[in-house]
Amino acid sequence: MNAPVNPNKALWEKGDFTRIAATMRESGETLVEKLGITKGMQVLDLGCGDGTTALPEAKLSADVLGIDIARNLVEAGNRRAADQGLNNLKFQEGDASNLEQVPDKSFDLVVSIFGAMFAPKPFEVAKEMVRVTRPGGRIVMGNWIPNDPTFVAQLLKISSNYTPPPPEGFVSPMTWGVENNVIERFAAAGVPKENISFARDTFTFNFPGTPSAYVDEFRKYYGPTMNAFEAAEKNGRAAELQKELEELFNSQNKSQNATMIPATFLRVTVAL
Ligand SMILES: C[S@@+](CC[C@H](N)C(=O)[O-])C[C@H]1O[C@@H](n2cnc3c(N)ncnc32)[C@H](O)[C@@H]1O
Repeated sequence: MNAPVNPNKALWEKGDFTRIAATMRESGETLVEKLGITKGMQVLDLGCGDGTTALPEAKLSADVLGIDIARNLVEAGNRRAADQGLNNLKFQEGDASNLEQVPDKSFDLVVSIFGAMFAPKPFEVAKEMVRVTRPGGRIVMGNWIPNDPTFVAQLLKISSNYTPPPPEGFVSPMTWGVENNVIERFAAAGVPKENISFARDTFTFNFPGTPSAYVDEFRKYYGPTMNAFEAAEKNGRAAELQKELEELFNSQNKSQNATMIPATFLRVTVAL
């Protein structure tokens, strides 16, 4: 018998997120430089994709485990680590809502940049991140902010306008970009509000072609946009979606001869 489809896993195994991640590498490195990583630090990168932040963490000589729900991205991450000779970095499949294979208090730092926010059951996610972090350790999350006027929040908003409504009880990943929700989720995991701090930060997406060619990358390779186009095609609205995205990408582009688009996110730091 076939196992039931996990829509969360299917969404991210769709297409090839590596094509998008390739446009995020510089900001990943810049963010990791700010994390105070030292040699031998035990780091968990959750929802790591193919390692945009996990590789820079390992290059700073931390011992890094990357966990991601998408099998293809875990494979891509392990290939990238091997290509770069990083023996202190391993990727494995797992679900941020249930890190059953990870012992309690095993990491000094848990990083999740636009990763765990996409897992269902946000209270379970907060509980698991707290459980696997040692006392004195830290959790750092990067979360997109709902209704923010910049790139990714708008891209996800437009995409969701063309996608069928999610099942009842579905909690939007974007709620991780609301400070009160973050406080409530970590409070339920036993972390007092005073231990949580917030900052606005920027990730810049760099693509070596035009904004319209960049829209095509999302249309072909990025699960949420692929789903939006599939639904839009059924309703005869694909051209409308394409136009809306081209307007967004063009209006946010800061480069004259390529594509450079900044996006604001909420950086959450939790001290345990
Ligand atoms: C937008 S990508 C970000 C990837 C990576 N952190 C980066 O910055 O390039 C979201 C990632 O979260 C992963 N993800 C989604 N739901 C997850 C879950 N329940 N458990 C673990 N990873 C998950 C996806 O497979 C995907 O790799």
